[in-house]
Amino acid sequence: MRITVIGCGYLGAVHAACMADFGHQVVGIDVDERKVADLAAAKAPFFEPGLPELLTRAMETGRLRFTTDLAEAARPAGDEQPTVHFVCVGTPQRKGEYAADTSYVDAAVTGLLPHLRPGDVVVGKSTVPVGTAARLAEQIKAVQPDVPLIWNPEFLREGHAVDDTQRPDRIVYGLPPEEELAAHGKAALDAVYAIPLDDGVPLITCDHPTAELVKTAANAFLATKISFINAMAEVCEAAGADVTALANAIGHDDRIGPKFLGAGLGFGGGCLPKDIRAFMARAGELGADQALTFLREVDDINMRRRSRMVDMTREALGGSFLGKKVAVLGAAFKPESDDIRDSPALNVAAQIKLQGAEVVVTDPAALENARRVWPELSFEDKIDVTVSGADVVLLLTEWKQYKSLDPTSLAALVRQPHVIDGRNALDPATWRAGGWTYRALGRPRA
Ligand code: UDX
Repeated sequence: MRITVIGCGYLGAVHAACMADFGHQVVGIDVDERKVADLAAAKAPFFEPGLPELLTRAMETGRLRFTTDLAEAARPAGDEQPTVHFVCVGTPQRKGEYAADTSYVDAAVTGLLPHLRPGDVVVGKSTVPVGTAARLAEQIKAVQPDVPLIWNPEFLREGHAVDDTQRPDRIVYGLPPEEELAAHGKAALDAVYAIPLDDGVPLITCDHPTAELVKTAANAFLATKISFINAMAEVCEAAGADVTALANAIGHDDRIGPKFLGAGLGFGGGCLPKDIRAFMARAGELGADQALTFLREVDDINMRRRSRMVDMTREALGGSFLGKKVAVLGAAFKPESDDIRDSPALNVAAQIKLQGAEVVVTDPAALENARRVWPELSFEDKIDVTVSGADVVLLLTEWKQYKSLDPTSLAALVRQPHVIDGRNALDPATWRAGGWTYRALGRPRA
């Protein structure tokens, strides 16, 4: 198949590389010249395990290229082959509002319109407020009535993006109401996804609004699951109970399941926080705001974990941050990522700095991004320099290299051996045996 991928951010870059790896002829398009130059040199513009290798492999086959020129990519001179156009641009939270900004999606479709030909298919992958697909489908219909729009949400996780794209849990097609258009669009996407579909990945077909909602509902559920266990952590702290044992015990129930019950500093990143807010805003516009008021609570519980971490750190320091050094392990919003968007770790670090402590942050992958966005914080590459002379060490992103630290040798470097585990990732017994005062969110003091 001939494919274009409009928008080469996280979703688009990975999607383009994976589709080329499936054997399709792919052009990735982005307005950012630097990103395009990086990708064209097989350099991933962000940290994603497996992506650089995949880009190199796909470029070598000649099946993948990147450009800033939408017109040329969408309709190369003399090439009349039908094309599947994937819209993969971002939908960030609007400044000062909860709602999503869909202007990039609108611009991508508007830019595509003059280049569409009968036989083409437009596929939306961006996370959008429900109702967007129907609106875009009308615009396409007015120009090219034979070109269908399929809504095909993406569920990839950063750090597992290549695997999640090539072997997804499920594939969802939101089809247009017109039978012929739906059949044409479905046939084209079946050919695009022939490899995972032949592998038995479940295919769910539905209408446009359901497909849009599948994505937002999935993210809302995941955020709710994390905030549920973090609410239990609050109760555990009050009752002197241990949320990690509690999560383990309830997770054995098949109906609950053990995943996404990791209590700690809560969720951040470019998706879950903004998606639940955009979902609430959209429900409000539809007059269904009551249905989602619980998401307000999910968001509040999540943000409260960050304040609790700051308070617990102050308590460990005897009530004041003044004259104290706080060492922070982790800047990325989660391990195996250099993404610092809405990072709980950096939010906590900045709050503590604002209250007067000297704060030094380290991270194996996210320091370059963190330095650019948070110039007021101090950063260090080396763990031993970061913790040297610290009055408290905070584990805020659970990178595996932090989980395997040797507490005994680390204790020799700090001024006071206090550790606070914001991700319930360390073994309390080992750290206590290494001479540390260990505290964690949702767990009893020793
Ligand atoms: C998420 C969804 O998982 C994915 O399906 C969707 O396509 C995009 O949003 P991502 O943002 O990459 O993916 O990260 P994810 O692994 O879901 O983690 C989100 C946040 O939740 C991280 O900050 C993580 O630290 C936190 N988290 C996750 C917890 O606090 N506890 C858990 O048990 C799991």
